[in-house]
Amino acid sequence: MRIITVPDYAAMSRVAADLVSAEVAHSPRSVLGLATGSTPEGLYAELVARVRMGTLNLSFVTTFNLDEYIGLPEEHETSYHFFMRRHLFDHVQVREYHIPNGNAPDLLAECRRYDGLIAEIGGIDLQILGIGRNGHIGFNEPGSPFGEGTRIVNLTPDTIAANARFFASPDQVPRQALSMGIKTIMRARSIVLLASGEGKAQAVAGMIKGPVTEALPASVLRLHPDATLIVDEDAASLLTREELTSA
Ligand code: PGA
Repeated sequence: MRIITVPDYAAMSRVAADLVSAEVAHSPRSVLGLATGSTPEGLYAELVARVRMGTLNLSFVTTFNLDEYIGLPEEHETSYHFFMRRHLFDHVQVREYHIPNGNAPDLLAECRRYDGLIAEIGGIDLQILGIGRNGHIGFNEPGSPFGEGTRIVNLTPDTIAANARFFASPDQVPRQALSMGIKTIMRARSIVLLASGEGKAQAVAGMIKGPVTEALPASVLRLHPDATLIVDEDAASLLTREELTSA
């Protein structure tokens, strides 16, 4: 895994935007995999700024988001549909964007439809990921099988607690979500994982120097041929310089 260490969140966001810009410059019809959460907000702000400056064109790009809560209306301000509109799609035009439908009448059929759409378009070229404090990617919590596609997941208490900050109270956080599975994520041609802040240090350290295990879902990225970690100093604080350069 390639590791890029940066001083802080702003630098992480700029470097991630550089990688997305390079991908789109090389291939304007790229298929991007997108993530939600606090981590990629700065990346999306950078992309919006670059589109406004005229140095980036996303209008031929197709995007697929990693996940969505089950049973939350799309217009609810904590839904990932809402998040993506607020941070990206209200500001820049893409060719087409896709987010799993957590209100589909048949959720299993929705999972198959989503993986089918990704396959039909030829796969994801560049997948952006954040990492949970427990090492999850997308909503693939510890113990998620490496071999599964898009699926229904039960959120762990840790994730519910982490995401409660966006809701009026923790009991309003949905207990289930649809998430691209780890197999779907690993099929992306390249993957960029962003990690910022002390709260991610333990998960990042485990991912880099621990075993590749379903107990720490992000560790699977060490098996990917083109995965890059962009990590700020706080999130890298439990790794030595040597561990950061030899991974
Ligand atoms: P965060 O979440 O960006 O809000 O920290 C990341 C994740 O849970 O994948």
